[in-house]
Amino acid sequence: MCGIVGYIGREDAVPVLLKGLKKLEYRGYDSAGIAVLGARRLLVRKSKGALKYLEEKVDAEFSAGELAGTMGIGHTRWATHGEPSDINSHPHTDVSGKIAVVHNGIIENHAKLRSWLKDHGVAFRSATDTEVIAHLIDFHYNGNLLQAVTESLKRLEGSYALGIICENEPERIVAVRKESPLVVGAGKGENLIASDVPALLEYTRDVYYLADREIAVLSRESVEFYNEDGVCIEKKASHVDWDASAAEKGGYEHFMLKEIHEQPKALTDTLRARIKTNASKSIDSKSINLEEIGFDASWAEANRIVIAACGTAWHAGIIGKYAFERFARIPTEPDIASEYRYRNPIFDPRDIFIIISQSGETADTLAAMRLAKKNGARIIAITNVVGSTLAREADLVMYTWAGPEIAVASTKAFTTQLMCLYLIAFQLGALRNTLSKEELARALAALELIPAQAEAILGAKENIQRFASQQFNKSKVFYMGRLFDYAVSLESALKLKEISYTHSEAFAAGELKHGPIALVDPSTLVVAICTQQELFDKMDSNIKETKARGAAAAVITYEDVSYFDDTADELFRIPRTLDSLTPMLSVIPAQLYAYYTSVLKGLDPDKPRNLAKSVTVE
Ligand code: M6R
Repeated sequence: MCGIVGYIGREDAVPVLLKGLKKLEYRGYDSAGIAVLGARRLLVRKSKGALKYLEEKVDAEFSAGELAGTMGIGHTRWATHGEPSDINSHPHTDVSGKIAVVHNGIIENHAKLRSWLKDHGVAFRSATDTEVIAHLIDFHYNGNLLQAVTESLKRLEGSYALGIICENEPERIVAVRKESPLVVGAGKGENLIASDVPALLEYTRDVYYLADREIAVLSRESVEFYNEDGVCIEKKASHVDWDASAAEKGGYEHFMLKEIHEQPKALTDTLRARIKTNASKSIDSKSINLEEIGFDASWAEANRIVIAACGTAWHAGIIGKYAFERFARIPTEPDIASEYRYRNPIFDPRDIFIIISQSGETADTLAAMRLAKKNGARIIAITNVVGSTLAREADLVMYTWAGPEIAVASTKAFTTQLMCLYLIAFQLGALRNTLSKEELARALAALELIPAQAEAILGAKENIQRFASQQFNKSKVFYMGRLFDYAVSLESALKLKEISYTHSEAFAAGELKHGPIALVDPSTLVVAICTQQELFDKMDSNIKETKARGAAAAVITYEDVSYFDDTADELFRIPRTLDSLTPMLSVIPAQLYAYYTSVLKGLDPDKPRNLAKSVTVE
């Protein structure tokens, strides 16, 4: 949570910082602030609420030339310590106002440091954990900012990505990270820092990913790197080849809608190059190309697969369980990362650990991975962000080639995570001979059709929009399904609740009669996901049970199925595929329903209240 930016170059820093923050607003929008160094004076401006309030605040001053300066730092906040307010907004400064700090993360020993600093005469202004950093750096400052930072780091416990400037040193920005993301962008005559790559793309595609406790010192002409002891180190730049427009709205009203629409391409990109189907060749394990990630036959000897993830990525993991057990016959346990890490889990060296995270920076997910690694586990990471912490620390990385996902509600990351999981499941099945050549051939052929099928569903989105316009005020929406459809129900209900604030839950349809049906009344909309052919009759009964209690029922099923025509009040059709692959398609109507409900309620689906895109606190 929280986004930080920094710029040192020849342009006016204010517009560069504001543009960077705009790109990072998805990380938090409780407040925003900037500090600019001009004419040897540090100028700090901050404002509670969304970035636009800060923009309004600085606009006149900037136009009047009162905020001139070619270096500065900026912050967009997701509040942890201290309510959203002007005072608690970043940047925070030391008592004299010469050192300014922006911070993403949590300083765990802030209370101890605060009282220690108070004993040394420091008067605090805010309720934040961050303010201690500014005072601590000042305490150690002896004319050398880098040295003051390295000394201060020795006292800090917790997570941080920091951008620091000092009035006495107008030629450098010092940046450092530990367990929170930070990228350095190397331009020509200008250098930048940001929490995420999209904020840099307008200026450079050459980036450095900082490892934990590495420090970057940016001047206009160069970037130098140091370890935590202040010893100079070498780092290699990576080239980011995303198109800058991939991080823009591209004519869509919201990022979420754009990202829903990007799914056919994202699915194609994630699949292409990973399968080699050729009519003239027979299909076998070599038809799936996971060599690029270093996947070999040794992984097929696993006795168990453990999956850890959070939120939407965890839902992908549940679908992974069904796929691994069905196709590779390997027992699989998907777990919520924040639960897994505290339940003293049992390790076996033959286990495969799959860690799923769009951002690759989710604190609980990283902690679960590190716990597994410490216990000797072999880790496969599925992530969307190249160079993320997860990608760097896992044994194997399988990227979802979804492109930047900006909207807080995850959509294209989910379907591409599924694509990766299916590919691993089919590869394991082929290697373990639990999947015949014919079954594998059928599965791969079906996978290849998925992107076009997703496109077809998007082509009929007006049906969902119309339905949402009739239902958006429903106070209760329950999704239900069985097997793969149950996992999609969980994801569908999460999507709806997070962006439309509708009370929405998911149930395994067979569980309804064991309790949840007591909640069903005429104010309820039930959405039944029905793509598991052998369970149609059971689902039909479950739908009828809810209708008998007054609920309205919508059904998501195949386009060639008439089974539910008489039961459902509304039907949404998806193209025919293998029952086990439907999650990549059946979730799309639910994503669209959540999106339209949010918009119809007058909300901003890209910025749901209380949420941030990247959850880097525990
Ligand atoms: O970046 P990650 O995939 O690790 O994020 C995990 C969750 O925070 C994320 O999926 C969250 O649940 C989304 N807001 C769901 O739309």
